[in-house]
Amino acid sequence: MKVLLLNGSPHKDGAVAEGLKEAQGVFEQKGIDTLWIHIGNRAIRGCNACEKCYGKGRCVYEDKANEVIDAMKDCDGIIIGSPVYYAGINGSLKSLLDRVFNAGSDVFKYKAASCIVNARRAGTTAAYDDINKYFGISGMVISPSRYWNMTHGNSAEEVIQDEEGMGTVRVIANSMSWLLKVLEDGKRKYGIPERYPVKGTNFIR
Ligand SMILES: Cc1cc2nc3c(=O)[nH]c(=O)nc-3n(C[C@H](O)[C@H](O)[C@H](O)COP(=O)(O)O)c2cc1C
Repeated sequence: MKVLLLNGSPHKDGAVAEGLKEAQGVFEQKGIDTLWIHIGNRAIRGCNACEKCYGKGRCVYEDKANEVIDAMKDCDGIIIGSPVYYAGINGSLKSLLDRVFNAGSDVFKYKAASCIVNARRAGTTAAYDDINKYFGISGMVISPSRYWNMTHGNSAEEVIQDEEGMGTVRVIANSMSWLLKVLEDGKRKYGIPERYPVKGTNFIR
């Protein structure tokens, strides 16, 4: 079993990475592999709504978006970490996730999902909402947690001092370790739900 740890901060070893490392420690104890992808500090373009990804499962722009989609084919779960910027997620991460989930939502279905948002001080619950919306629309199974998935600190050194936040991270990784086994057993026993027909209407009438 493998979990993708997506660091959505431009800082490779900052506060967000520190939270993800804490989760990695729990996964190691549980015998679960991890794979890291760092969003980096280069420009990441947003979705241009060309719709060429539909039915192909890939974005026309060969960059980090397809790297995440490809990595996820081999993973059973994902934890997305983001710094809070203006009470939302990092703009580069938003650009990436719009394209990843628009092009590749099939590789996420019925897999385990969780997030960790980190702020110096405020805006965490709004950022937490931002990420969970990608999971919900893509048929992912959100891992149980305690409190909401947030840590506080402006640097790796500071976030280590957020004992409660780091405790929440360990709970997330521990419960995802459990959820991965539940999903594996459940899929073997019951498969996945059949595609249930829903009529798409672009406005309410
Ligand atoms: C453009 C920008 C906007 C920010 N907005 C907020 C904010 O709304 N609330 C907050 O508490 N911290 C804010 N911060 C601080 C970051 O959340 C914090 O530095 C970051 O989470 C640290 O994680 P990192 O070391 O992994 O980058 C902002 C930082 C930047 C650069």
